[in-house]
Amino acid sequence: MRALALIAVCLLAAPAAADEYIGAEQCAACHAEAYAWWKTTAHARAGRVLSPAEQRDPRCTSCHATAIDQPHVQCEACHGPGQHYWPAFVMVDVHLARAAGLRSGAEPATCNGCHTADAPGLRPFDLAAALAKMKDHTPPTTPAKGAE
Ligand code: HEC
Ligand code: HEC
Ligand code: HEC
Ligand code: HEC
Repeated sequence: MRALALIAVCLLAAPAAADEYIGAEQCAACHAEAYAWWKTTAHARAGRVLSPAEQRDPRCTSCHATAIDQPHVQCEACHGPGQHYWPAFVMVDVHLARAAGLRSGAEPATCNGCHTADAPGLRPFDLAAALAKMKDHTPPTTPAKGAE
């Protein structure tokens, strides 16, 4: 009985442990254009501005990394950890994908979580202008290989 309860607790706890990041290269398999675009952005280099010590300092990695062992601001920093939504049969169904943790990326809280008043910058962060720069990162026509 106790063992059963434990299993139930583990199953219930599973979504909480879903903070599993698969890395931008995995997304690139189906989102080649988005990946190519992302590589040109400051987000893809965000870990490189840190010294080796800072790369392990949570005070810096909270914004300059996506997760432990996932440097830079990768896809999943904005779209949510991909462990449960990346399989093709989930991704083709946007409602299912959302339920599995996919985020549009455009929620203001996503950007504002790192682009806070504490972050350095010559100009204050202009959310609307910054979001507009995101618009062209994947043209809607991008064929996703997993679609078939
Ligand atoms: C197996 C192929 C595959 C993989 C791997 C994959 N995707 Fe997708 N993705 C798709 C397909 C297919 C769609 C739906 C068609 C489209 O919008 O291109 C989609 C749609 C999306 C969308 C748009 C959802 C919407 O609102 O319409 C986002 C955002 C996205 N994927 C992000 C990611 C991220 C981030 C990763 C990596 C963690 C990833 N995908 C991995 C195939 C994949
Ligand atoms: C609250 C989120 C946040 C934290 C925490 C943070 N940064 Fe940043 N950092 C940013 C943002 C956002 C930018 C880009 C600002 C801009 O260009 O408008 C940035 C820019 C930088 C830059 C300039 C990069 C360039 O391309 O010129 C350096 C260097 C830097 N951060 C180092 C650090 C170090 C070292 C730490 C830890 C002590 C740290 N940051 C902690 C958000 C953060
Ligand atoms: C996980 C933290 C994080 C998230 C989430 C995040 N950013 Fe950033 N962003 C950074 C860091 C760190 C830099 C600085 C990278 C560097 O220069 O090394 C940066 C740089 C940028 C830059 C380049 C700065 C410039 O002045 O050219 C833009 C634009 C930007 N972010 C827009 C956005 C938008 C829009 C969102 C939300 C859709 C977002 N960011 C979400 C951490 C984040
Ligand atoms: C800094 C945050 C951020 C990062 C990093 C990021 N995205 Fe996005 N993504 C967004 C935002 C915001 C949108 C919504 C753009 C819009 O339509 O306004 C979006 C939209 C998308 C879409 C849907 C586009 C469409 O055609 O409807 C896909 C697919 C996608 N991203 C995949 C990726 C992949 C793959 C990566 C990594 C290689 C990535 N994104 C990195 C913020 C981000």
